[in-house]
Amino acid sequence: MTFSLRIQKIYSLCEGLFIWDICCDHSLIAILNLKENRFQKVYCIDKSFQSLEKTKKHLEKIKLFNHYIREDNISEKIEIQCIDGSLLNWEKVTGSVIIAGVGSHTCLKIIKSCPESKRADLTWILNPFNYLDLFRTEIKKLFSETVSLEEHTVIESSRERVIFKLSHQQCMRSRKDKALPFQYD
Ligand SMILES: C[S@@+](CC[C@H](N)C(=O)[O-])C[C@H]1O[C@@H](n2cnc3c(N)ncnc32)[C@H](O)[C@@H]1O
Repeated sequence: MTFSLRIQKIYSLCEGLFIWDICCDHSLIAILNLKENRFQKVYCIDKSFQSLEKTKKHLEKIKLFNHYIREDNISEKIEIQCIDGSLLNWEKVTGSVIIAGVGSHTCLKIIKSCPESKRADLTWILNPFNYLDLFRTEIKKLFSETVSLEEHTVIESSRERVIFKLSHQQCMRSRKDKALPFQYD
């Protein structure tokens, strides 16, 4: 299985123990984490039952062809929930939240569903596919000034994609730390 540079970049920007991949579709981030094992668990959230069924089929194949990945390891590492991201129980959410590959309006709607007091506790990796100027304006209203904002650009299928990272912890670290280049083998 191959992972696009965009998916690799999104994964590389995550921090904390857990990833909540909202709008995950076929849950590539969770599958990448089975290989890389940087996070304790990836929660895969999508409103489409069909998308999550495809994830389950992928996982069956992985179990068949990768004998080093045990079944109990997969169930420890991945949890799948079929719900609309804006209906998530945010109290349980910690670590990094990914919302990627959807329109800006969907992305903003899901962020707004997270209580304001909780937003700064999380690292947000956001990759909306349209209306980026509107998105930039709106996220400034949704996050306090103590949250740092980074933008990373990657090319996928000849298209420029912008990945936004919002993180409170990042702000606490030195600026030098922030400038580390992305590397992935
Ligand atoms: C193009 S896929 C993106 C997959 C992956 N995140 C990526 O970046 O490649 C968009 C997915 O978002 C899901 N989706 C759209 N709106 C959603 C919502 N409000 N809550 C949960 N999932 C949603 C769709 O069902 C679809 O599977």
